[in-house]
Amino acid sequence: MSTQIDHLLNETRRFSPPDGFAAQAVGSADLYARAAEDREGFWADQARELHWHTPFTEVLDWSTPPFARWFGDGELNVAYNCLDRHVEAGHGDRVALLWEGEPGDERAITYSELTAEVSRLANVLEGLGVGEGDRVAIYLPMIPEAVAAMLAVARIGAIHSVVFGGFSADSLRSRIDDAGAKVVITADGGYRKGKVSALKPAVDLALADRNGSGVQESVEHVIVVRRGGNDVDWTPGRDLWWHDVVPAASPAHTARAFPAETPLFILYTSGTTGKPKGILHTSGGYLTQAAFTNRVVHDIHPETDVYWCTADVGWITGHTYVTYGPLANGATQVLYEGTPDAPHPGRWWEIIQKYGVTVFYTAPTAIRSFMKIGRQVPQGFDLSSLRVLGSVGEPINPEAWVWYRDIIGAERTPIVDTWWQTETGAMMISALPGVTETKPGAAQVALPGITIDVVDDAGEHVGTGNGGLLVVTEPWPSMLRGIWGDPERFVETYWEKFADRGFYFAGDGARLDEDGDIWLLGRVDDVMNVSGHRLSTAEIESALVAHEATAEAAVVGASDETTGQAVVAFVILKQSYLDRHSAEGLATTLRAWVGEQIGPIARPRDIYIVGELPKTRSGKIMRRLLRDVAEGREVGDTTTLADTMVMSTIQAKITTK
Ligand code: WTA
Repeated sequence: MSTQIDHLLNETRRFSPPDGFAAQAVGSADLYARAAEDREGFWADQARELHWHTPFTEVLDWSTPPFARWFGDGELNVAYNCLDRHVEAGHGDRVALLWEGEPGDERAITYSELTAEVSRLANVLEGLGVGEGDRVAIYLPMIPEAVAAMLAVARIGAIHSVVFGGFSADSLRSRIDDAGAKVVITADGGYRKGKVSALKPAVDLALADRNGSGVQESVEHVIVVRRGGNDVDWTPGRDLWWHDVVPAASPAHTARAFPAETPLFILYTSGTTGKPKGILHTSGGYLTQAAFTNRVVHDIHPETDVYWCTADVGWITGHTYVTYGPLANGATQVLYEGTPDAPHPGRWWEIIQKYGVTVFYTAPTAIRSFMKIGRQVPQGFDLSSLRVLGSVGEPINPEAWVWYRDIIGAERTPIVDTWWQTETGAMMISALPGVTETKPGAAQVALPGITIDVVDDAGEHVGTGNGGLLVVTEPWPSMLRGIWGDPERFVETYWEKFADRGFYFAGDGARLDEDGDIWLLGRVDDVMNVSGHRLSTAEIESALVAHEATAEAAVVGASDETTGQAVVAFVILKQSYLDRHSAEGLATTLRAWVGEQIGPIARPRDIYIVGELPKTRSGKIMRRLLRDVAEGREVGDTTTLADTMVMSTIQAKITTK
């Protein structure tokens, strides 16, 4: 971390908005002034950009913090705002989704067509007895049906829980159980890296016979999209093909009004303990901030832009900046099923050229891996349509930022580095293109209407030139409303640390530069960020110790040139296993095991089999020291260890490996 900070401190490059950008930009400096003068009035104005069946009279109710209510007496329908209203305004023929399958098949779906499809599915779901407040799990590849499924659930006032298709059956099962999902929407499989990757078997496994488990099965139906064409097992009565039930349903469905605080979705994210948290978002405030930030930060002009956010809908970025933000704004967007390098390393650039993408939003990890392959790949394509580039998910190092601007953005496009979280629901810190003079590596400024500070442990503002903890000092419209089924954990995780001040604690370290701009420095807790995906050390440790060969395990996030951080595990094996197996063989087995337990993204890059772990006298594992080892640094202060020799034993073991 310290070399990173030095590097950031030395970064002096500055980039002004391109000539003429400000004149056409959606956002302007006035927004900051208006929000500073009357923050709630500012958000009320943004909310009024949506269609309210019943207009709100109350903006923010913060009478029982940390439980906020925004626009509480208003009523709206989220799907109506993303679909019908554009059709009614005469934009039904505008393309909503320009979908590209990995094998190269394509579909262009207009707002009228998407409205009809969502209405049909809404009718199907209601026919299956799904109603307001019921939970629906969505486990799909990046196909138009994923977006349609989210919107259909929203349309009927039910709650979706999208589970990333890369998660295992076990992860899916725990999310289905925690939410008590009534229906699962999945596909036979989807394309990944040139092959069909099956999904339905994981659903079958997740819902397999639970006799004796004590868990009451909540799922009544599974709706299956045919995409991969792979063979699937079928449970008659429970399983329904999408193509049997959806086309047969009526495309007419009235979007009812729901109160603004109606839950919209649960999205599970890793925290500092083993159990993922079901982050709960509601309707009116979430959609307000999703639409506003997409509009001003991405500078969306719905009539002319072709927008592309590369995130999967299984993550918050896909929720807010694939499904809800762009569709609420009536934008045209690209949706791509596959991986960036299938079937060739220029696939993304080919898509930008093919569809004339103007606004592009992706993660630093992707940019760094393209840097590694070399500029000749993107330079083989015409990227001249691009005019705004965005970054999200992890700190972007200045070199990657500058490469992104120079090579992808033709040394011309503004870069917006957007900081936010699953919990914040939408962007919180970002430059505005056309307004902000940008600094490579800094997310820079709180968005209009958002109040951010960097504070010390006691909650005191650190002042310019200093580092500390990032906090949000006042409630914001798209803030999480809780953790599903666990209000205490919600209070404890985010609000207890600065309870006397009422600050939201984000879990990130940050620094204020001399201008007061914010530089994000990574997590300050046991959450890792691998390729922009959040993983918990505790969750991977508990997967490792669940294997019968493991006696004990410690996991750290070690810095990695491409993925930002990488998972490194230190494992103590049971002697009985070591007697019978090679340590290398067991390391391979354990890597695969973690992949099965959580999903391939959680597989450790390195597993070191060790004899002991560094612990304090009270038995706490000192991950800081393990991180030193994993990053090849000299090991720091070991004086608080119960056994000060343990680190040299571990290091000897690793260097002789
Ligand atoms: C990190 C993703 C630096 C941060 C939207 C945060 C970032 C966590 C940035 C949330 C950024 C996200 N600069 N760090 N621009 N964006 N992060 O919930 O540590 O998957 O707490 O949301 O990612 O990850 P999540």
